[in-house]
Amino acid sequence: MRRIGVLSSGGDTPGMNAAIRAVVQTGLALDMEVYGIRHGFRGLLEGDIHLLTSAEVRNINYKGGTILKTSRCKEFETEAGQKKAVEMIAAYELDGIVVIGGDGSMRGAAALCGYGVPTITLPGTIDNDLAYTDFTIGFDTAVNGVIEEIVRIRDTMVSHDRIGVVEVMGNHCGDIALYAGLAGSMDFIIVPEVGYDLGFICDRIMKNRLKGILTSMVIVAEGAAKAGEMAKAIHQQLGIEVKPVVLGYTQRGGNPTAGDRVLAARLGSHAVRLLQAGKSNLAVGIRGNQIVSMDIMQAVETEKMFDEELYMLANLLSHAQ
Ligand code: F6P
Repeated sequence: MRRIGVLSSGGDTPGMNAAIRAVVQTGLALDMEVYGIRHGFRGLLEGDIHLLTSAEVRNINYKGGTILKTSRCKEFETEAGQKKAVEMIAAYELDGIVVIGGDGSMRGAAALCGYGVPTITLPGTIDNDLAYTDFTIGFDTAVNGVIEEIVRIRDTMVSHDRIGVVEVMGNHCGDIALYAGLAGSMDFIIVPEVGYDLGFICDRIMKNRLKGILTSMVIVAEGAAKAGEMAKAIHQQLGIEVKPVVLGYTQRGGNPTAGDRVLAARLGSHAVRLLQAGKSNLAVGIRGNQIVSMDIMQAVETEKMFDEELYMLANLLSHAQ
């Protein structure tokens, strides 16, 4: 294994740069040349590929986004697109590829493996929706970003005796809402895995008010409900002021936390060592603080279990006793 490529794909996450640095520095230490493929799989089709140097990755560890850029490439989902990519890999004489991204990117990586290209994936998504790994790169930063915003939103809600409804990302997986909800002491955590009962929420808001707690805070994952609709529904039932806030893409930006940088460093370096050892078709992750790897499609298809225990704990702690 002399020449490897690295790309980031799908939604960017804080920590992708730290992973790229780990791949480049480990590759160089193992006497490899590491090529950066820009704009994800699109760059692979278009040959947007250049040799990465140690200098280029020197000051990127703490930066959000991805220096390699990213995309969601429809063409790569076609057989013709994949063949074009494989031809480009041959033209650049790349012996292996590291793909950083979420489930869609992992499917793309598995397709490359099908054409005999040694490929290893790193879990890059803020959603934490991959079951084979305890945590994905970017999740910790997203959660920390959300709880900072919650502090600001709560300050103004409390000043006006309002109810705040904060919408966070997560279409099928409510982990951002769950972790930020617990860490940010939210009164109600609404996730797609569980759903919600509006009557119960309204009832508890009123009970809180009778106890002198005039502000309640709701966190909702985008896949469970829309903040605007939920705010309207609570207002219609209770006649009190309810303000929706959609945090949106703020969750994807910003400097990665130390946790995400360390995770990206460990997994990124391990991916290169797997390629060097002649391995392919593996998704690298972390379980119980141990680095693990699993067949890519098996990793994508493992069903993510919702952390009921954490959800119950968050609810227990948030309720006014
Ligand atoms: O990165 C994951 C994610 O943020 C989802 O939670 C969100 O729904 C989606 O990506 C939106 O991404 P985009 O608008 O870039 O397609």
